[in-house]
Parts: sequence; structure tokens; C-alpha cells
Amino acid sequence: MAKLTINGVECEFDKGQTIIQAALRAGVEIPHYCYHDSLSIPANCRICLAECWAPDPRADAKLAPYMGGKLLPTCQTHAVDGLVVRTDSPKAVANQKAVMEYLLINHPLDCPVCDQAGECDLQDYSYRFGRGVSRFEESKVKQPKKDLGPHVLLYADRCIMCTRCVRFTREVTGTSELLVQGRGNQEQIDVFPGVPLDNELSANVIDLCPVGALLDKDFLFAQRVWFLKRTPSIDGLTASGDNIWIEHNEGRVYRLKPRTNLEVNKWWITDEVRYGWKHVHSRQRLTSPMRRRHGALIESEYVRAAEDAAAGLEKAKRIGVLVSPMLTCEDAYALARLAKRIDDKAVLAIGPVPVSGEDKVFPKGAKADDPRAFIVRAEKAPNARGVKRVLAAMGGAVTFDEFVGALGSGTIDAAIITGNYPSTWAPRKLIDALDKPFCLLIDTLDTGLVNAATCILPGATWMEKAGTFENANSVLQAFEQAIPCVGASRSEGQIASDLLAIIEDRAEDTTDEHVFAYIDEQPGMVPEAAELVRPRAGLFNAADARREMGERFEALRTIAGDVRMPAGEDVAEPDMVMVEL
Ligand code: SF4
Ligand code: FES
Repeated sequence: MAKLTINGVECEFDKGQTIIQAALRAGVEIPHYCYHDSLSIPANCRICLAECWAPDPRADAKLAPYMGGKLLPTCQTHAVDGLVVRTDSPKAVANQKAVMEYLLINHPLDCPVCDQAGECDLQDYSYRFGRGVSRFEESKVKQPKKDLGPHVLLYADRCIMCTRCVRFTREVTGTSELLVQGRGNQEQIDVFPGVPLDNELSANVIDLCPVGALLDKDFLFAQRVWFLKRTPSIDGLTASGDNIWIEHNEGRVYRLKPRTNLEVNKWWITDEVRYGWKHVHSRQRLTSPMRRRHGALIESEYVRAAEDAAAGLEKAKRIGVLVSPMLTCEDAYALARLAKRIDDKAVLAIGPVPVSGEDKVFPKGAKADDPRAFIVRAEKAPNARGVKRVLAAMGGAVTFDEFVGALGSGTIDAAIITGNYPSTWAPRKLIDALDKPFCLLIDTLDTGLVNAATCILPGATWMEKAGTFENANSVLQAFEQAIPCVGASRSEGQIASDLLAIIEDRAEDTTDEHVFAYIDEQPGMVPEAAELVRPRAGLFNAADARREMGERFEALRTIAGDVRMPAGEDVAEPDMVMVEL
């Protein structure tokens, strides 16, 4: 393979790659603003310039200055075999300092009030490649703040005119809402009058902007970024399986960001995924278990509601479980395992799969198998395929309509209904069919199903649990729990395991004494006094559930074996000396 040397590090490259692409592949840092892997290359920021030498065939392949010894943009210059590149030579370093000084001339230096502070390339490069002091004494050019669209604000005087945002709207979304207007130091990013930046992927320009010029209205002044922890996760709202970061602090989610995965979502997520998680902290969340007493639903301790649920299910002649396509494969397995333990002919059904419009491919006109293609899925459930796979392996998955029919005809006399949809919508025919049977509802939001339930155990959204989703391309991806469960909610897998523990414990119980099962609230919590503490179910572990289903069912080995684990984050080593206090 052809090789070049960048700052003393030997880097391999493929034909057609540029120097910066070879550097990025080998993990060698070259500062850059305007270059982005997904976009065209204008080479306009000039910070990536390097000094290069190439073997001269006319002088026994001795190294000679390449291209006349001029500094070359590494983002635009193709790599050639034997090339020697230095971004740390005095000439290259002088250029970096000059570029940084130029970019900061009219910059307001308002880092203390800028949302980007802490994750700003201008700030980082200023520290690493800039001068320590400013020589500029004249008045700075003031630029306005602009509302560009439903999600994006522009602080124009922080812009460094890298044009990444403009190229994104031209080359990826094909909507071309953004443009550069003006000349020289009056240049500004803008939109056409009456044409806001409003497309399905619009907020990706916020991530593309290397400085604090394009800001997220939803995150504006909400949190300093250094307080945020990030957990790698998967889109829990659509069938795309987009890789995301969930950024949170003290149990509260503040924003979602795309996590690059070239096989799945490239560098992007839709605005629908980015902002669709608000139900997680909604006031309509079900946060407390409930059970029916004299016809009315009352709030209850988890233990009592779980006891009621277990007793109601045990009394039934035929159990039906409606497993939502919003749940993980592990949740589906735990619910089906519980139902089959009580009634080995239990009816297993998959919940309604919401669909909106048709799949859309970006850039416009690209085929779905194009390596640049980003697909917005019409299917608005993250795991319909995974849930179907699990239920089919454990005794067959009937359709939603068949399930409702069996409820209505009285074939099923006890139902476990799961929801976990991001809205309070609930199918009317399901609510009507739940008129008579015993109904354990495990859901996240206060929907019309609540009034039809006999017993309610609040479920956890995908951010509050670990598990596996299978996306529209049948890619199985695991994710970790990002935040603790909201209120007294638990994952459906945990609830199913708790109920199973109660039922199995009761089966072994030979005393007539009335006892409560004690189920651990959260790891580390001290149990409150109970009449009798029974062995608890233990914390539901998604990895163990995957392993178990792979061992028990041949058809589910793929979930245990082919699942892709989230890649960890590359953490930069701090250059500060740590002192022990
Ligand atoms: S707004 Fe940001 S992304 Fe757009 S040109 Fe300016 S610096 Fe670049
Ligand atoms: S990254 Fe090369 S000129 Fe901007």
C-alpha cells in the first residue's frame, strides 16, 4: 500500500485520498475548519496548510520541495507515495498563527456567554495553534443575530465563513436555504427572505459549525457543555437505528447528537430524532404504580401493584401479551417468558407499528445503496423486526388486529399491554376491547389505556434502560442506559422479571401467611420494612437476557451473537498536570 509521512508518522492511503484523509485515518491531527468528510472541498479556511517534500526522480529520489515549496492545503492536495508532510515546520506554524489571528480579528471573543464554549474548534485551535495575545486595536465589525429557522439561530459575528453549513444545504439536503451574502468583512451567512432553514435534517448544521455561530434554540443557555455526560445510544423513535449520543446531567437529558456510523446514519440524524425525546421528561409520564380498588385507580407502592398484577395474571385461563415495537428485544423476551411461564398457550402479539409517509433518501436522487445515502424512515418504531423475531421464536406473533379480536371475543381473559410510544395516542379499538379482561398496563405516558387498566406499572423509555434494537436493515445494535428511571418506572424487562419472581416464589410457598415480595427499588437503596422480605428478582441485565435467549432458542442466537456494541468515545488525554488534593 502507498505510504506518506505526516509529522514523522508513516500513514497508508488509498488512491485518490487527500493528505488530510490519510492523516485522519492514521489518527494524526491536522487542524481544519472547512474540511468535512461528507462535503465538497473549497479549501477556504487555510489552517490545514502544510509544507511538503516529495522524492525527485531526477535526483536519485532525493526529497525536494513539492509543488515549488509553497504551503499546500492538505484537505485538497492528493497524497502521493513517499510524500513527506509537516504541519509543525516553522513555515506551517507561522501560517497557523496568521490564520488564527485573522479569524479572531472581528470575533467578539464572547466565550463566557457562548453555548459552544468547551466544544469550540476556534477556542481549541486558538489555544493550540494561535498567538497568546491580540495585536488588533481597531473597532471590530459588528454582525447581527438572526433567526434562521425553527431550530437554528445564527450569531453572525462568531462565523468564520467556512461555508460548511451552506454546502450541507446544497449537497446533502438539496434544499439550498443558506447562502453567503456580502463581501470581505461584511460577509454573512443568510437565508432568502421568507425561506427559513426548515428541512428534515436542518439541525445538523449546528453540529457542522465548528464555532458558536449556529446554535440550537432548544439547547440555548440550557447547560454548559462540560457538565454534560454522553452515553452512546441508538435512535429509539424510528426504524433507522441512527447512532446517537444522549447528553445528560443529573438524570436529565439536555440534547441528542449524531454519532458517526458510516454503515447506518453517516454523520447525521433527523430533527425528528434530535428533538423527539421530550416525552421522557414530560408531565404526562406515568411515574407511579397504580391498582384498582373498588373500581377506582389509586396510586400504590410498586410491591403491592406487582402482587395484584401477578395474582390477576395467575387467575386467567388465557393470557395475551401485546409487545410494543418500541421495546427492546430483551424486554420482548422477558415479557414472553413471563406469559409462557403462567400459560404455555399464551397469545403473543406485536403492537401497532406507526408509519408516516414514505422513506426519503438524502441527497435527493441518491439510491438507497449509495454510500452517501441517508435514509429517513417512514416507520416510526425502533424495533418492530426485533420484537417480531423474538415473539416468533417463542411461539408465534399474532397481529394487532387478531389480538384485539381475541380480547373482544373473550378468548383472552388477562392481558399485558405495553406502549412506550412517544405520544399519548392509543388505539380506540384496543381501549374498547379491554372493557372486560384483567389488564396489566406497562406504559410510559398517560394515554386512554390508563382508564381501561386494572393495574398499572410505569415503564421506562429507551434512555432509561439498556437493550437491543433491530433496524429497518436488520442491523442489531445494543445500547446502554443513559439516565436513571424516571419516578418509580422500570424497564419492561425488569417488571416482567419481578412478576416472574413473585409467581415462582408463590409456587414454592407452603405457608398460609400473607407476604409481600420485596423488590429492590434501585441499586444501593435500603429496603423499607416489609412484612416479609422475599428473594428479589435481581436487576434485569440486558446482556444476560441476550445470552439466555440465544441459549434457549436457536432462532435467537443471532441476537446474542451478531449484536453490535456501541463504540466508545475517543477521550483526549488532558494536558494539565493533575495534582492530588
Ligand atoms: S455559520 Fe458556522 S458553519 Fe456556517 S460558515 Fe459560519 S462558521 Fe461555517
Ligand atoms: S481545511 Fe483545508 S483549507 Fe480549510
